[in-house]
Amino acid sequence: MKHKLKMLAGMAVVTIASSLPANAETVSMFCSATDYELCEKAVAKWSEKTGNEVKLNRMPQNLDDAIPIYQQLFAAQSSDIDVLYIDVIWLGMFKDHLLDVTSMIPEDEVKAHFASATDAARLDGKLLAMPFYIDTGLMFYRKDLLEKYGKEPPKTWDEMTATAKEIQDAERKAGNPDMWGYAWQGRSYEGLTCDALEWIASAGGGTIISDNGEVTINSPVTEAALTRARGWIGTISPEGVLNYDEENSRTLFESGNAVFHRNWPYVWGTSQAEGGKLVGKVGVSALPLGAEGQKSSGTLGTAYLGVSKYSEKQELATDLLRYMVGFEDQKMRAIEGGYNPTVAALYEDADVLAKIPFLGMAKTAFEESVARPSAATGKNYNRISRTFYRAVHDIISGKDDVAKELADLERRLQRDVRAGE
Ligand code: GLC
Repeated sequence: MKHKLKMLAGMAVVTIASSLPANAETVSMFCSATDYELCEKAVAKWSEKTGNEVKLNRMPQNLDDAIPIYQQLFAAQSSDIDVLYIDVIWLGMFKDHLLDVTSMIPEDEVKAHFASATDAARLDGKLLAMPFYIDTGLMFYRKDLLEKYGKEPPKTWDEMTATAKEIQDAERKAGNPDMWGYAWQGRSYEGLTCDALEWIASAGGGTIISDNGEVTINSPVTEAALTRARGWIGTISPEGVLNYDEENSRTLFESGNAVFHRNWPYVWGTSQAEGGKLVGKVGVSALPLGAEGQKSSGTLGTAYLGVSKYSEKQELATDLLRYMVGFEDQKMRAIEGGYNPTVAALYEDADVLAKIPFLGMAKTAFEESVARPSAATGKNYNRISRTFYRAVHDIISGKDDVAKELADLERRLQRDVRAGE
């Protein structure tokens, strides 16, 4: 039975249409808040091409808050939304509600994307979504300040810590009391899982839960990584970082008051947009290492689009999806927003390279990125991640002994894993 859901809690809905022919149809789609304007632009183009109309639903700023909305829609088998924005970690969680588009998308269109990105969306032999853009944690830094103080982009987290402190202190002395060393995401939410995984994985400490479902968190490597991060609070990062998500930390960096900033590739687009304070002053590198011999481990955050199984307009919805993830739209998004494409050919496109000069490095960072344990934990991922980021938040907030917290976290995660079996 399909219901119409009366209320999409607190979400702004906008309808985009060109002059519509009499037989025009309307499809409805979710767009993330961060790239909403780019989404609007793309949809207007598709609308113009096809003569159909799109109802856009702006997702909550914090993607975690979209999960209960999706759950509610799926539980009601609602046909209100046709095209869904899917965070990579939701693929397993929502797989039963996504349409298998295998036979609806020509193979060459699928093959145009990085195989690793499309492969991650193949579950139980079905292609459940198409990749939209790649997110990998990257380090943005003030090129001008590093040059001023004769520093190189740091290779290790320890080096980053020292350089951040040195430049922060020198800049404060030189008359900028608001300067900080490092802006990142310390709020108790999914973003903290991403940041913390990077500190741990880049030190060889694993991925919270291993591929075979074992909890790997309680180790001296993790203890050292989290102790280091705890030491940043109030020294190179403001206390407020404990409540920062991507946008808060970006605001600090783009106000000119942070030397280093961990975020996703879109910050290149915002920080280099015309009129910005930091135009020409920002460098980008892979994230530092936690230990020699390890690899830089930006968390992988590919975004996907999928079609709802409950959509009453599956063909039209798939057509919109194909346009949104296709070459033309991904090129526009790369050029105008700094979003890293999943269409491989765009990594050799001169227009894109002119706008994102570090795209080659970003591709390597993507290849070396670390995945959250969502494939191994499936529908249980959300619970596991929440247990993890809450404990990490307690640790970096300075509560309790790190080793004791980790032992407790291990037990809680083991219980979560069992609950999901
Ligand atoms: C970005 C990533 C996503 C991640 C989220 C955490 O949107 O693309 O994968 O879950 O940040 O805040």
